[in-house]
Amino acid sequence: MTKPQTTMFAVRSVDEEYILPRIASLLKPLRVAVLISGTGEGLNALLAHQKISRTHSTKLILSNNSNAYGLIYGNKYNIRCKVVPLPKSTNKDLQRLMHEDLINKELLNSKIELIVLNGYMRVLTPSFVSKWKGKIINIHPSLLPKFPGANAHRDTINAKVTESGCTVHLVDDGVDTGYILAQEKVSINSLDDIKSLQEKIKKVEHKLYPKVIDNLSIGKYHIKS
Ligand code: GRF
Repeated sequence: MTKPQTTMFAVRSVDEEYILPRIASLLKPLRVAVLISGTGEGLNALLAHQKISRTHSTKLILSNNSNAYGLIYGNKYNIRCKVVPLPKSTNKDLQRLMHEDLINKELLNSKIELIVLNGYMRVLTPSFVSKWKGKIINIHPSLLPKFPGANAHRDTINAKVTESGCTVHLVDDGVDTGYILAQEKVSINSLDDIKSLQEKIKKVEHKLYPKVIDNLSIGKYHIKS
């Protein structure tokens, strides 16, 4: 088996618009919120990693979906879990803003310093992002800028490419467009389908993104205090 190829990007060239989280310590770990909508398998990997790596700690699990399986990890690890469903409104823009306002209150209540989007199936508004810019990371199952969006695996398979991977990036106003912190490749063979590609990528992203948070929490990517 070939060694996985990880590329970590130094944030030297990231422009001043991203204000990264403070440098944490064992005594004062970075307070993390993980936003999920589905299985939370990646969340589980992070929580296992945080048992050993103690410069960051998940303090809040937040979901828009009350049926998200990943919510069980709140009980398992004794972490505050909060379901924030979309508020009722016929005005979609207003509904989005009201929803994000509720989420923002939860993040502030839990004194969150870093937001991790892992399978959170909603696009955040520029207004929300501007409050947290540099403190939100997303895990995306392709080698961005290739195959952004909600159907990355399907688009990758349809394109008949021979490699894909995962990307961890800072979130900006666009969809999967923010500054790339790290990527790792997987190879695709002719037998792969959406499901098998998804499994391959999950294996590497579950290892990669906790390491990226390790780095962020000790200021390895720090450009501003
Ligand atoms: C991850 O594979 C990640 O790449 C993407 O969402 C997936 C996690 O979703 N952002 P789920 O919790 O397994 O549904």
